[in-house]
Amino acid sequence: MRITMIGTGYVGLVSGACFADFGHRVTCVDTDAAKIAALHRGEMPIFEPGLDQLVEASVKAGRLDFQTDLAGPVGEADAVFIAVGTPSRRGDGHADLSYVHAAAREIAAALKGFTVVVTKSTVPVGTGDEVERIIRETNPNADVAVASNPEFLREGAAIRDFKHPDRIVVGTDDERARKAMGEVYRPLYLNQAPIMYTERRTAELIKYAANAFLATKITFINEIADLSEKVGADVQEVARGIGLDNRIGSKFLNAGPGFGGSCFPKDTRALVKTALDHDVPLRIVEAVLAVNDNRKRAMARKVAAAVGGNLRGKTVAVLGLTFKPETDDMREAPSIPLITGLLDLGAQVRAYDPVGMELAKHDLPDIAYAVDPYDCAKGADALVIVTEWVQFRALDLVRLKQEMAHPVIVDLRNIYRRDEMKALGFIYESVGRGD
Ligand code: UGA
Repeated sequence: MRITMIGTGYVGLVSGACFADFGHRVTCVDTDAAKIAALHRGEMPIFEPGLDQLVEASVKAGRLDFQTDLAGPVGEADAVFIAVGTPSRRGDGHADLSYVHAAAREIAAALKGFTVVVTKSTVPVGTGDEVERIIRETNPNADVAVASNPEFLREGAAIRDFKHPDRIVVGTDDERARKAMGEVYRPLYLNQAPIMYTERRTAELIKYAANAFLATKITFINEIADLSEKVGADVQEVARGIGLDNRIGSKFLNAGPGFGGSCFPKDTRALVKTALDHDVPLRIVEAVLAVNDNRKRAMARKVAAAVGGNLRGKTVAVLGLTFKPETDDMREAPSIPLITGLLDLGAQVRAYDPVGMELAKHDLPDIAYAVDPYDCAKGADALVIVTEWVQFRALDLVRLKQEMAHPVIVDLRNIYRRDEMKALGFIYESVGRGD
């Protein structure tokens, strides 16, 4: 198959590289010339484990290339994927579809022969209809079917998620499009990944419902964590105990500082907006958003409580800034409201992150940055673990304690054992693990 991917952001680049790895001939297009030039030099615009090797191998094999002009590749393609950004629109929280609509117009003018145009960007229900309308209006002779094919990739594990999906969702009622999408995903189908064919609007809603449900699961366990602390229960055991019930499932039940990232906050906000537009308010998802926002701010108060209530003049070390490990992504990272809260309470903050510090400096210009976790801990009155990078699980805790002015650790990801930390002489606070 010949595939053209519009947009070399997170989703477009990972998907394009994986399709090329399947053996398809893929061209990734982006209007950002600097980005395309960097990709030609083998430089990745994002940090994602394994992506550079995957791109390099497919480029070498002649199955993957990068261009700024979409007309040529679209004309030759069997399938054109739209994977451009859909940020939260300033002011009202709706998804901003201007990039999607612009891509549809440009694609329309360049189509030749039967082509499936696929929205991979996360788009509100009805966007496929609008993309089809724009294409037919711009090019009434186009032989085209518009399908929805949402992605379910986690940053940091995107390639594995792409190659071993729980399911592939394809939304279209056009037979030729179903057949073409079956070909596109054939290697996965052979590996037993179920392809679910459904209506386009249903596919669009599946994506939002999946993210909102996962965000709800996390928020639910976070509230149970707060209750666990008060009643002397252990939230990790509670999560295990409920997760063993197949109806609930064990994943996404890790309590923490609240969910962040480029997807859950934006997508839950957009879903709430869509629902209100249709006069069907989604009260549960609204509550999830409100609880999650409050939680991020509450984490600063938790740190203050751990040092006796007053942070004025105290130094707080923060380990981990990105919204999750194995990414440099700082979008809606819980570290931002947490650190802002610490500064507001009068603390001085020194932070360390294995890959996120360059990007973090834009969001958090008023803090110091350390060269490693021990440097970060120097003279600190408290140390907070915000992102569960694997290297933080194997720290030399005796050395860490020696570096600190006061041995207070607030572990917002529950990566250490309470008994061990207490035996080492730390004052150790974690999430949802009451005594
Ligand atoms: C999420 C979904 O997991 C993907 O399926 C989806 O495709 C993607 O959004 C998207 O819409 O593009 P991602 O945001 O990369 O992926 O990362 P997650 O691993 O889902 O983590 C999201 C947030 O939830 C992070 O802040 C993480 O720390 C938090 N989280 C996750 C928890 O606090 N507890 C958990 O048990 C799991």
